[in-house]
Amino acid sequence: MNNNWTPSSWQAFPAVQQPQWPDNGALDTALKQIATFPPLVFAGEARSLQTALGQVASGNAFLLQAGDCAESFEEFSAVNIREKLRVILQMAVMLTYSMGVPVVKVGRIAGQFAKPRSNNTETINGVELPVFRGHMVNDPSAHAEARIPNPDRLVQAYHQAASTLNLVRAFTKGGFADLNRVHAWNQEFVAQSAEGKRYEDVASEIERALAFMRACGIDTETNTALHQVDVYTSHEALILGYEEALTRQDSLTGGWYDCSAHMLWIGERTRQLDGAHVEFLRGVGNPIGCKIGKTTDVDYVLSLCETLNPARIPGRLTLISRMGANDVEEALRPLLRAVRDAGHPVVWACDPMHGNTYSAPNGRKTRHLEDIVKEITGFVKAHRAENTWPGGIHIELTGENVTECLGGSEGLGNDDLDTRYETVCDPRLNGRQSIDLAFRVAELIRSNN
Ligand code: PEP
Ligand code: CO
Repeated sequence: MNNNWTPSSWQAFPAVQQPQWPDNGALDTALKQIATFPPLVFAGEARSLQTALGQVASGNAFLLQAGDCAESFEEFSAVNIREKLRVILQMAVMLTYSMGVPVVKVGRIAGQFAKPRSNNTETINGVELPVFRGHMVNDPSAHAEARIPNPDRLVQAYHQAASTLNLVRAFTKGGFADLNRVHAWNQEFVAQSAEGKRYEDVASEIERALAFMRACGIDTETNTALHQVDVYTSHEALILGYEEALTRQDSLTGGWYDCSAHMLWIGERTRQLDGAHVEFLRGVGNPIGCKIGKTTDVDYVLSLCETLNPARIPGRLTLISRMGANDVEEALRPLLRAVRDAGHPVVWACDPMHGNTYSAPNGRKTRHLEDIVKEITGFVKAHRAENTWPGGIHIELTGENVTECLGGSEGLGNDDLDTRYETVCDPRLNGRQSIDLAFRVAELIRSNN
Protein backbone atom coordinates (compact mmCIF):
# COMPACT_ATOMS: atom_id res chain seq x y z
CA MET A 1 0.00 0.00 0.00
CA ASN A 2 1.45 3.40 -0.90
CA ASN A 3 0.91 6.69 0.86
CA ASN A 4 -0.79 8.43 -2.05
CA TRP A 5 -4.23 8.44 -0.53
CA THR A 6 -7.08 10.37 -2.11
CA PRO A 7 -10.84 10.05 -1.48
CA SER A 8 -10.99 7.91 -4.65
CA SER A 9 -7.77 5.90 -4.28
CA TRP A 10 -9.83 2.92 -3.01
CA GLN A 11 -11.07 2.47 -6.58
CA ALA A 12 -7.76 0.86 -7.55
CA PHE A 13 -8.24 -1.88 -4.93
CA PRO A 14 -10.58 -4.86 -4.91
CA ALA A 15 -13.87 -3.82 -3.29
CA VAL A 16 -15.93 -6.73 -1.99
CA GLN A 17 -19.64 -6.55 -1.03
CA GLN A 18 -20.45 -3.80 -3.55
CA PRO A 19 -23.87 -3.99 -5.24
CA GLN A 20 -24.11 -4.78 -8.95
CA TRP A 21 -25.74 -1.49 -9.94
CA PRO A 22 -27.56 -2.15 -13.22
CA ASP A 23 -27.03 1.36 -14.61
CA ASN A 24 -23.66 3.01 -14.03
CA GLY A 25 -24.91 6.29 -15.47
CA ALA A 26 -27.67 6.50 -12.87
CA LEU A 27 -25.19 5.59 -10.13
CA ASP A 28 -22.84 8.31 -11.27
CA THR A 29 -25.65 10.89 -11.29
CA ALA A 30 -26.70 9.96 -7.73
CA LEU A 31 -23.15 10.10 -6.39
CA LYS A 32 -22.45 13.44 -8.11
CA GLN A 33 -25.60 14.84 -6.53
CA ILE A 34 -24.60 13.60 -3.05
CA ALA A 35 -21.18 15.15 -3.51
CA THR A 36 -22.88 18.56 -3.77
CA PHE A 37 -24.93 18.08 -0.58
CA PRO A 38 -23.81 19.58 2.74
CA PRO A 39 -21.77 17.34 5.03
CA LEU A 40 -23.80 15.61 7.75
CA VAL A 41 -21.21 16.11 10.46
CA PHE A 42 -18.45 18.59 11.08
CA ALA A 43 -14.80 17.49 11.24
CA GLY A 44 -14.41 19.15 14.66
CA GLU A 45 -17.10 16.82 16.04
CA ALA A 46 -15.25 13.78 14.72
CA ARG A 47 -12.13 15.07 16.46
CA SER A 48 -14.07 15.51 19.74
CA LEU A 49 -15.22 11.91 19.49
CA GLN A 50 -11.63 10.81 18.84
CA THR A 51 -10.50 12.66 21.96
CA ALA A 52 -13.27 10.99 23.99
CA LEU A 53 -12.27 7.59 22.57
CA GLY A 54 -8.68 8.37 23.52
CA GLN A 55 -9.93 8.39 27.12
CA VAL A 56 -11.43 4.95 26.50
CA ALA A 57 -8.13 3.70 25.05
CA SER A 58 -6.33 4.77 28.22
CA GLY A 59 -8.85 3.05 30.49
CA ASN A 60 -10.59 6.20 31.74
CA ALA A 61 -13.92 5.92 29.93
CA PHE A 62 -16.24 3.30 28.43
CA LEU A 63 -17.73 3.09 24.93
CA LEU A 64 -21.39 2.28 24.36
CA GLN A 65 -22.02 1.83 20.63
CA ALA A 66 -25.58 0.76 19.92
CA GLY A 67 -28.50 0.84 17.54
CA ASP A 68 -30.16 -1.05 14.73
CA CYS A 69 -28.49 -3.77 12.72
CA ALA A 70 -29.96 -1.98 9.72
CA GLU A 71 -31.99 1.21 9.77
CA SER A 72 -35.14 1.07 7.70
CA PHE A 73 -36.71 3.47 5.19
CA GLU A 74 -40.11 2.23 6.36
CA GLU A 75 -39.63 2.36 10.14
CA PHE A 76 -38.70 6.03 10.02
CA SER A 77 -40.43 8.18 12.60
CA ALA A 78 -39.80 10.53 15.50
CA VAL A 79 -41.04 7.89 17.91
CA ASN A 80 -38.66 5.27 16.57
CA ILE A 81 -35.65 7.61 16.86
CA ARG A 82 -36.71 8.84 20.30
CA GLU A 83 -37.16 5.32 21.69
CA LYS A 84 -33.74 4.23 20.46
CA LEU A 85 -32.16 7.30 21.97
CA ARG A 86 -34.03 6.80 25.21
CA VAL A 87 -32.73 3.30 25.75
CA ILE A 88 -29.17 4.35 24.86
CA LEU A 89 -29.41 7.18 27.44
CA GLN A 90 -30.80 4.78 30.04
CA MET A 91 -28.02 2.27 29.46
CA ALA A 92 -25.40 5.00 29.51
CA VAL A 93 -26.60 6.53 32.76
CA MET A 94 -26.70 3.14 34.48
CA LEU A 95 -23.19 2.32 33.25
CA THR A 96 -21.86 5.74 34.27
CA TYR A 97 -23.42 5.58 37.71
CA SER A 98 -22.29 2.03 38.45
CA MET A 99 -18.81 2.23 36.94
CA GLY A 100 -17.95 5.81 37.84
CA VAL A 101 -16.37 6.55 34.46
CA PRO A 102 -17.68 8.64 31.55
CA VAL A 103 -19.58 6.69 28.90
CA VAL A 104 -18.94 7.68 25.28
CA LYS A 105 -22.22 7.25 23.42
CA VAL A 106 -22.14 6.32 19.72
CA GLY A 107 -25.31 5.29 17.87
CA ARG A 108 -25.52 2.85 15.00
CA ILE A 109 -27.82 5.52 13.66
CA ALA A 110 -28.31 8.16 10.94
CA GLY A 111 -26.59 6.20 8.17
CA GLN A 112 -26.65 2.48 9.02
CA PHE A 113 -28.42 1.51 5.78
CA ALA A 114 -26.10 -0.97 4.04
CA LYS A 115 -25.48 -4.61 4.90
CA PRO A 116 -22.67 -7.01 3.97
CA ARG A 117 -24.04 -10.47 3.23
CA SER A 118 -22.56 -13.96 3.33
CA ASN A 119 -24.39 -15.05 0.14
CA ASN A 120 -25.39 -13.16 -3.00
CA THR A 121 -28.79 -14.82 -3.11
CA GLU A 122 -31.40 -16.14 -0.69
CA THR A 123 -34.28 -18.56 -1.23
CA ILE A 124 -37.73 -17.43 -0.10
CA ASN A 125 -40.67 -19.82 -0.52
CA GLY A 126 -38.63 -21.86 -2.96
CA VAL A 127 -37.67 -18.86 -5.11
CA GLU A 128 -34.05 -17.78 -5.34
CA LEU A 129 -33.70 -13.99 -5.14
CA PRO A 130 -30.76 -11.57 -5.03
CA VAL A 131 -30.07 -10.92 -1.35
CA PHE A 132 -31.30 -7.79 0.48
CA ARG A 133 -28.31 -5.46 1.00
CA GLY A 134 -29.89 -2.72 3.12
CA HIS A 135 -32.36 0.02 2.25
CA MET A 136 -29.56 2.11 0.79
CA VAL A 137 -29.29 -0.48 -1.99
CA ASN A 138 -32.51 -2.45 -2.55
CA ASP A 139 -35.89 -3.38 -1.08
CA PRO A 140 -36.40 -6.48 1.10
CA SER A 141 -39.76 -7.44 -0.50
CA ALA A 142 -39.68 -10.99 -1.78
CA HIS A 143 -39.73 -10.39 -5.51
CA ALA A 144 -36.92 -10.07 -8.00
CA GLU A 145 -37.64 -6.52 -9.13
CA ALA A 146 -37.51 -5.16 -5.56
CA ARG A 147 -34.05 -6.61 -5.17
CA ILE A 148 -32.50 -4.69 -8.09
CA PRO A 149 -30.04 -2.13 -6.67
CA ASN A 150 -31.39 1.38 -7.18
CA PRO A 151 -29.00 4.35 -6.81
CA ASP A 152 -31.88 6.71 -5.94
CA ARG A 153 -31.77 4.92 -2.61
CA LEU A 154 -28.34 6.41 -1.92
CA VAL A 155 -29.87 9.87 -2.14
CA GLN A 156 -32.79 8.82 0.05
CA ALA A 157 -30.34 7.40 2.63
CA TYR A 158 -28.57 10.75 2.78
CA HIS A 159 -31.84 12.60 3.41
CA GLN A 160 -33.02 10.15 6.04
CA ALA A 161 -29.64 10.31 7.77
CA ALA A 162 -29.86 14.13 7.75
CA SER A 163 -33.28 14.27 9.35
CA THR A 164 -32.47 11.51 11.84
CA LEU A 165 -29.34 13.36 12.89
CA ASN A 166 -31.30 16.59 13.17
CA LEU A 167 -33.69 14.97 15.64
CA VAL A 168 -30.85 13.31 17.57
CA ARG A 169 -29.21 16.72 17.95
CA ALA A 170 -32.53 18.27 19.03
CA PHE A 171 -33.23 15.58 21.62
CA THR A 172 -29.72 15.52 23.05
CA LYS A 173 -29.28 19.29 23.29
CA GLY A 174 -32.86 20.47 23.70
CA GLY A 175 -33.97 19.05 27.04
CA PHE A 176 -34.90 15.40 26.41
CA ALA A 177 -31.50 14.19 27.66
CA ASP A 178 -31.57 16.38 30.80
CA LEU A 179 -30.39 14.32 33.76
CA ASN A 180 -33.34 15.66 35.75
CA ARG A 181 -35.50 13.55 33.43
CA VAL A 182 -33.77 10.30 34.31
CA HIS A 183 -37.06 8.89 35.70
CA ALA A 184 -39.05 10.01 32.67
CA TRP A 185 -36.82 7.97 30.33
CA ASN A 186 -38.20 4.77 31.79
CA GLN A 187 -40.86 3.58 29.39
CA GLU A 188 -44.08 2.04 30.61
CA PHE A 189 -43.31 -1.51 29.44
CA VAL A 190 -39.81 -1.34 30.92
CA ALA A 191 -40.91 0.23 34.23
CA GLN A 192 -43.08 -2.77 35.12
CA SER A 193 -40.22 -5.26 34.81
CA ALA A 194 -37.62 -6.27 37.40
CA GLU A 195 -34.85 -4.42 35.57
CA GLY A 196 -37.16 -1.42 35.15
CA LYS A 197 -37.62 -1.28 38.92
CA ARG A 198 -33.89 -1.61 39.43
CA TYR A 199 -33.47 1.28 37.02
CA GLU A 200 -35.99 3.35 39.04
CA ASP A 201 -33.92 2.76 42.19
CA VAL A 202 -30.74 4.04 40.57
CA ALA A 203 -32.66 6.96 39.01
CA SER A 204 -33.85 7.93 42.51
CA GLU A 205 -30.28 7.81 43.79
CA ILE A 206 -29.19 10.07 40.95
CA GLU A 207 -31.98 12.51 41.82
CA ARG A 208 -30.86 12.51 45.43
CA ALA A 209 -27.28 13.17 44.30
CA LEU A 210 -28.46 16.14 42.24
CA ALA A 211 -30.40 17.50 45.21
CA PHE A 212 -27.32 17.01 47.37
CA MET A 213 -25.19 18.98 44.91
CA ARG A 214 -27.72 21.82 44.90
CA ALA A 215 -27.86 21.79 48.71
CA CYS A 216 -24.07 22.13 48.77
CA GLY A 217 -24.38 25.29 46.68
CA ILE A 218 -23.31 23.78 43.34
CA ASP A 219 -25.17 25.49 40.51
CA THR A 220 -26.77 22.57 38.71
CA GLU A 221 -28.92 24.87 36.55
CA THR A 222 -26.16 26.35 34.43
CA ASN A 223 -23.93 23.29 34.18
CA THR A 224 -24.59 22.03 30.67
CA ALA A 225 -23.07 18.62 31.43
CA LEU A 226 -26.20 17.87 33.45
CA HIS A 227 -28.64 19.00 30.79
CA GLN A 228 -27.13 17.88 27.50
CA VAL A 229 -25.27 14.86 26.18
CA ASP A 230 -23.14 14.09 23.15
CA VAL A 231 -24.47 11.21 21.10
CA TYR A 232 -22.29 10.56 18.09
CA THR A 233 -23.28 8.74 14.89
CA SER A 234 -21.67 5.73 13.23
CA HIS A 235 -22.27 3.13 10.56
CA GLU A 236 -20.43 0.49 8.59
CA ALA A 237 -18.61 2.21 5.73
CA LEU A 238 -19.68 -0.35 3.15
CA ILE A 239 -20.83 1.37 -0.03
CA LEU A 240 -17.64 3.20 -0.83
CA GLY A 241 -19.03 5.43 -3.60
CA TYR A 242 -21.44 6.94 -1.06
CA GLU A 243 -18.70 7.41 1.53
CA GLU A 244 -16.40 9.01 -1.03
CA ALA A 245 -19.14 11.45 -2.09
CA LEU A 246 -19.43 12.68 1.49
CA THR A 247 -15.68 12.92 2.09
CA ARG A 248 -14.66 16.54 2.42
CA GLN A 249 -11.53 18.51 3.16
CA ASP A 250 -11.62 20.21 6.55
CA SER A 251 -11.04 23.94 6.19
CA LEU A 252 -9.39 24.17 9.62
CA THR A 253 -6.79 21.42 9.30
CA GLY A 254 -6.71 20.55 5.61
CA GLY A 255 -7.38 16.89 6.53
CA TRP A 256 -9.99 14.71 4.82
CA TYR A 257 -13.04 13.58 6.79
CA ASP A 258 -15.85 11.22 5.83
CA CYS A 259 -18.68 13.55 6.81
CA SER A 260 -21.42 10.88 6.52
CA ALA A 261 -20.96 10.09 10.26
CA HIS A 262 -18.66 10.81 13.17
CA MET A 263 -17.28 7.27 13.28
CA LEU A 264 -17.10 4.62 10.54
CA TRP A 265 -16.27 0.99 10.84
CA ILE A 266 -15.07 -1.82 8.57
CA GLY A 267 -16.97 -5.10 8.84
CA GLU A 268 -15.73 -8.64 9.27
CA ARG A 269 -16.24 -9.35 5.55
CA THR A 270 -14.49 -6.25 4.18
CA ARG A 271 -11.38 -5.92 6.31
CA GLN A 272 -8.80 -7.29 3.82
CA LEU A 273 -5.48 -5.43 4.27
CA ASP A 274 -5.11 -5.05 0.50
CA GLY A 275 -8.78 -4.26 -0.05
CA ALA A 276 -10.66 -1.09 -0.91
CA HIS A 277 -12.34 -0.59 2.49
CA VAL A 278 -9.08 -0.49 4.41
CA GLU A 279 -7.58 1.75 1.73
CA PHE A 280 -10.48 4.19 1.98
CA LEU A 281 -10.67 4.41 5.76
CA ARG A 282 -6.93 4.72 6.34
CA GLY A 283 -7.05 8.20 4.80
CA VAL A 284 -9.97 9.82 6.60
CA GLY A 285 -9.46 11.70 9.83
CA ASN A 286 -12.52 10.26 11.62
CA PRO A 287 -12.17 7.76 14.42
CA ILE A 288 -12.62 4.34 12.81
CA GLY A 289 -13.43 0.81 13.88
CA CYS A 290 -12.80 -2.65 12.53
CA LYS A 291 -14.66 -5.85 13.41
CA ILE A 292 -12.47 -8.86 14.11
CA GLY A 293 -13.76 -12.43 14.23
CA LYS A 294 -12.36 -15.49 15.95
CA THR A 295 -10.01 -16.46 13.12
CA THR A 296 -8.09 -13.18 13.36
CA ASP A 297 -4.38 -13.70 13.96
CA VAL A 298 -1.70 -11.59 15.59
CA ASP A 299 0.16 -10.65 12.40
CA TYR A 300 -3.04 -9.43 10.81
CA VAL A 301 -4.03 -7.28 13.79
CA LEU A 302 -0.60 -5.68 14.04
CA SER A 303 -0.60 -4.89 10.31
CA LEU A 304 -4.10 -3.49 10.60
CA CYS A 305 -3.04 -1.20 13.45
CA GLU A 306 0.02 -0.03 11.47
CA THR A 307 -2.05 0.62 8.35
CA LEU A 308 -5.00 2.35 9.97
CA ASN A 309 -3.19 4.17 12.76
CA PRO A 310 0.50 4.55 11.88
CA ALA A 311 0.75 7.71 14.00
CA ARG A 312 -0.60 5.78 17.01
CA ILE A 313 -3.23 8.37 17.88
CA PRO A 314 -5.23 7.26 20.93
CA GLY A 315 -8.91 6.86 20.02
CA ARG A 316 -8.27 6.73 16.28
CA LEU A 317 -8.82 2.96 16.07
CA THR A 318 -11.39 0.79 17.82
CA LEU A 319 -11.03 -2.97 17.44
CA ILE A 320 -14.44 -4.61 17.83
CA SER A 321 -14.13 -8.33 18.58
CA ARG A 322 -17.08 -10.55 17.58
CA MET A 323 -15.77 -13.99 18.27
CA GLY A 324 -18.65 -15.92 19.84
CA ALA A 325 -19.29 -16.67 23.50
CA ASN A 326 -17.31 -19.94 23.49
CA ASP A 327 -14.22 -18.68 21.70
CA VAL A 328 -13.67 -15.09 22.74
CA GLU A 329 -11.47 -15.58 25.77
CA GLU A 330 -8.97 -17.84 24.07
CA ALA A 331 -9.03 -16.12 20.68
CA LEU A 332 -8.74 -12.60 22.07
CA ARG A 333 -5.92 -12.99 24.58
CA PRO A 334 -3.01 -13.30 22.10
CA LEU A 335 -4.33 -10.27 20.20
CA LEU A 336 -4.59 -8.16 23.37
CA ARG A 337 -1.07 -9.15 24.33
CA ALA A 338 0.42 -8.39 20.91
CA VAL A 339 -1.31 -5.02 20.51
CA ARG A 340 -0.39 -4.05 24.06
CA ASP A 341 3.27 -5.05 23.58
CA ALA A 342 3.45 -3.20 20.27
CA GLY A 343 2.24 -0.06 22.05
CA HIS A 344 -0.82 0.57 19.88
CA PRO A 345 -3.35 2.71 21.78
CA VAL A 346 -6.53 1.02 20.56
CA VAL A 347 -10.01 0.94 22.05
CA TRP A 348 -11.12 -2.65 22.58
CA ALA A 349 -14.86 -3.11 22.22
CA CYS A 350 -16.94 -6.28 22.38
CA ASP A 351 -19.66 -7.00 19.83
CA PRO A 352 -21.40 -9.93 21.54
CA MET A 353 -24.10 -10.13 18.88
CA HIS A 354 -22.63 -11.33 15.58
CA GLY A 355 -20.76 -14.38 16.86
CA ASN A 356 -23.86 -15.70 18.64
CA THR A 357 -26.53 -15.62 15.96
CA TYR A 358 -28.44 -18.76 15.01
CA SER A 359 -31.75 -19.85 13.52
CA ALA A 360 -34.60 -20.78 15.87
CA PRO A 361 -36.75 -23.81 14.97
CA ASN A 362 -39.24 -21.52 13.16
CA GLY A 363 -36.39 -20.23 10.99
CA ARG A 364 -36.13 -16.81 12.64
CA LYS A 365 -32.60 -15.53 13.15
CA THR A 366 -32.12 -14.99 16.87
CA ARG A 367 -29.67 -14.58 19.76
CA HIS A 368 -29.96 -15.45 23.42
CA LEU A 369 -29.29 -12.79 26.05
CA GLU A 370 -27.29 -15.31 28.09
CA ASP A 371 -24.91 -15.92 25.15
CA ILE A 372 -24.50 -12.17 24.82
CA VAL A 373 -23.65 -11.85 28.52
CA LYS A 374 -21.36 -14.87 28.23
CA GLU A 375 -19.38 -13.32 25.39
CA ILE A 376 -18.94 -10.06 27.33
CA THR A 377 -17.85 -12.10 30.36
CA GLY A 378 -15.18 -13.86 28.28
CA PHE A 379 -14.11 -10.52 26.82
CA VAL A 380 -13.70 -8.99 30.28
CA LYS A 381 -11.83 -12.06 31.56
CA ALA A 382 -9.38 -11.89 28.64
CA HIS A 383 -8.69 -8.24 29.45
CA ARG A 384 -8.22 -8.95 33.15
CA ALA A 385 -5.71 -11.68 32.29
CA GLU A 386 -3.74 -9.41 29.95
CA ASN A 387 -4.02 -6.30 32.08
CA THR A 388 -5.78 -4.33 29.35
CA TRP A 389 -9.00 -2.29 29.52
CA PRO A 390 -12.29 -3.82 28.32
CA GLY A 391 -13.22 -0.54 26.70
CA GLY A 392 -16.77 -0.96 25.53
CA ILE A 393 -19.65 -2.83 24.00
CA HIS A 394 -21.18 -2.76 20.52
CA ILE A 395 -24.83 -3.79 20.62
CA GLU A 396 -27.81 -4.16 18.27
CA LEU A 397 -30.92 -2.86 20.03
CA THR A 398 -34.14 -0.97 19.69
CA GLY A 399 -36.17 0.90 22.27
CA GLU A 400 -39.33 -0.89 21.14
CA ASN A 401 -40.92 -3.90 22.83
CA VAL A 402 -39.91 -6.33 20.08
CA THR A 403 -39.42 -10.09 20.43
CA GLU A 404 -36.30 -10.78 18.37
CA CYS A 405 -33.74 -11.97 20.94
CA LEU A 406 -34.42 -14.71 23.47
CA GLY A 407 -34.11 -14.60 27.26
CA GLY A 408 -34.20 -11.72 29.71
CA SER A 409 -36.37 -11.43 32.79
CA GLU A 410 -39.56 -11.86 30.75
CA GLY A 411 -38.12 -15.19 29.60
CA LEU A 412 -38.70 -14.76 25.86
CA GLY A 413 -38.63 -18.17 24.20
CA ASN A 414 -38.83 -19.58 20.67
CA ASP A 415 -42.62 -19.41 20.68
CA ASP A 416 -42.54 -15.66 21.35
CA LEU A 417 -40.39 -14.77 18.35
CA ASP A 418 -43.32 -14.32 15.96
CA THR A 419 -45.16 -11.91 18.30
CA ARG A 420 -43.21 -8.83 17.31
CA TYR A 421 -40.31 -9.63 15.00
CA GLU A 422 -39.68 -6.43 13.06
CA THR A 423 -35.99 -6.13 12.27
CA VAL A 424 -34.99 -5.72 8.62
CA CYS A 425 -31.76 -7.61 9.32
CA ASP A 426 -30.32 -9.08 12.56
CA PRO A 427 -32.34 -9.58 15.79
CA ARG A 428 -32.11 -6.70 18.30
CA LEU A 429 -32.38 -6.55 22.06
CA ASN A 430 -35.58 -4.86 23.18
CA GLY A 431 -35.79 -2.05 25.78
CA ARG A 432 -35.94 -4.36 28.81
CA GLN A 433 -33.21 -6.71 27.64
CA SER A 434 -30.99 -3.68 26.95
CA ILE A 435 -31.41 -2.26 30.48
CA ASP A 436 -30.83 -5.72 31.92
CA LEU A 437 -27.64 -5.98 29.88
CA ALA A 438 -26.41 -2.56 31.07
CA PHE A 439 -26.67 -3.66 34.71
CA ARG A 440 -24.90 -6.91 34.04
CA VAL A 441 -22.10 -5.26 32.08
CA ALA A 442 -21.57 -2.72 34.85
CA GLU A 443 -21.30 -5.55 37.37
CA LEU A 444 -18.81 -7.42 35.18
CA ILE A 445 -16.58 -4.40 34.70
CA ARG A 446 -16.75 -3.42 38.35
CA SER A 447 -15.96 -6.85 39.74
CA ASN A 448 -12.28 -7.56 39.99
CA ASN A 449 -12.06 -11.19 39.08
C1 PEP B 1 -23.07 -5.78 11.68
O1 PEP B 1 -22.45 -5.09 12.51
O2 PEP B 1 -24.30 -5.69 11.50
C2 PEP B 1 -22.31 -6.82 10.94
C3 PEP B 1 -22.71 -7.27 9.77
O3 PEP B 1 -21.22 -7.22 11.61
P1 PEP B 1 -19.97 -8.11 11.16
O4 PEP B 1 -19.26 -7.34 10.09
O5 PEP B 1 -19.18 -8.18 12.43
O6 PEP B 1 -20.49 -9.44 10.72
CO1 CO C 1 -26.02 -7.03 12.46
